[in-house]
Amino acid sequence: MSAASSVLRVSGLSKSFGGLQAVRGVDFEVEEGAIVGLIGPNGAGKTTTFNMIAGELPPTTGKIELLGEDVTGQRTDLLYHKGLMRTFQLSHEYARMTSLENLAVAAPVQRGESIWASWFAGAAVRKREAEVIELARETLEFLGLTHVTDELAGNLSGGQKKLLEIGRTMMNDSKVVLLDEPGAGVNPTLMRKVAEMIEQLNAERGYTFCIIEHDMDMIARLCGKVVVLAEGQVLMEGTMDEVRNDERVIDAYFGGEVV
Ligand SMILES: Nc1ncnc2c1ncn2[C@@H]1O[C@H](COP(=O)(O)OP(=O)(O)OP(=O)(O)O)[C@@H](O)[C@H]1O
Ligand SMILES: [Mg+2]
Repeated sequence: MSAASSVLRVSGLSKSFGGLQAVRGVDFEVEEGAIVGLIGPNGAGKTTTFNMIAGELPPTTGKIELLGEDVTGQRTDLLYHKGLMRTFQLSHEYARMTSLENLAVAAPVQRGESIWASWFAGAAVRKREAEVIELARETLEFLGLTHVTDELAGNLSGGQKKLLEIGRTMMNDSKVVLLDEPGAGVNPTLMRKVAEMIEQLNAERGYTFCIIEHDMDMIARLCGKVVVLAEGQVLMEGTMDEVRNDERVIDAYFGGEVV
């Protein structure tokens, strides 16, 4: 795959926590418009890899390129403005705010850059607020969450919270979205809905996704390419069919047991 079509590329990425090497020289790339799966057993280093890409954790070594730019070690808020969003393995909703407010606060704030902007700031801010609320309402409708618009996010089900997390990515002009276990704790009906949302955002909004997930049906349905991590290293990458039949992957997951 040529460099031009890669929106995210990590090379030689490593992270040590004291003596523990959680991620050890990981290389992979995510092509524009792709939905790439990042899978592997518990403790393989998947979330740590996302934390480094999303700017929450500085890598010990290695390089991260976003849309062709070296963004290694850049802060989350800078990456956010460049179109990188992530969701969390454990949902990060503001429990005491409503669903609508949770989405509204995820929208970027427009800052005035000229004296004219400050002159008109009052009106501009009010206009922006109205736009953000409108976008938040549209997003709730897209997610099928209109009925919980004014519900406190803390009262939502696990699946609804996951949908709200995906909704937060829609409040920004996202280009690359990292989803950490969007299916975890989600019932099968909502799970299908989450998968549909991802497909729709990919097809209609052109989002590129990298998805960590333990539900292999979801990965098989969504992902063209799958990267398998084990003990902090890339074990292999390929299609889900290739991954499913690879001895090394079976070993990594099941320790060689026949299942
Ligand atoms: N902040 C930290 N400090 C110390 N060790 C950590 C830290 N974060 C992760 N680890 C360790 O790094 C290793 C990789 O953890 P990580 O959360 O990246 O795994 P994972 O692949 O996401 O696993 P899971 O599928 O269970 O979510 C684990 O051994 C974990 O205990
Ligand atoms: Mg994890």
